[in-house]
Amino acid sequence: MVRVLFVCLGNICRSPAAEGVFQHMLEKNHLTDKIECDSAGTSAYHKGEPADGRMRAHAKERGYDLTSRSRPFIAPDDFENFDWIVTMDESNYLNVIKLTANQTYRNKVVRMTDFCTIHDIEEVPDPYAGGSDGFELVMDIVEDGCHGLLKKLEFNR
Ligand code: 4NP
Repeated sequence: MVRVLFVCLGNICRSPAAEGVFQHMLEKNHLTDKIECDSAGTSAYHKGEPADGRMRAHAKERGYDLTSRSRPFIAPDDFENFDWIVTMDESNYLNVIKLTANQTYRNKVVRMTDFCTIHDIEEVPDPYAGGSDGFELVMDIVEDGCHGLLKKLEFNR
């Protein structure tokens, strides 16, 4: 089993969207017995909460149900339990890297935008304080990145 963990700050917008999109792709491609995914936040601000209603609505419009509950990223457990730790922005990346105790853990930490083929950008911008365009952009980038990530994982198998 290959295990993927998507990480943002609050685990109520970007990483739940990535988890929902990726899970949908795994189901569509009959890969749920080979690849698993989850999501977490570098903060515990929203622990136990469902995904933000705005993020859920934008995902739903594209056919994704976001059902996850926010939980904080836990070191070293999440480094042990996951093979790929996919961060949404530079701040999330650096916060996770700070928690790595060795090179094996560091090698697992990547950026969502590394896997994008349509969007030439470095981060999935935080949509929390902005308007509806920001949530649409998250969906666009996350679909692009998840598609690229799945291709990479299938190629590596
Ligand atoms: P996320 O968005 O990291 O994509 O879940 C945010 C959610 C909450 C906050 C910031 C970003 N916040 O400051 O509460």
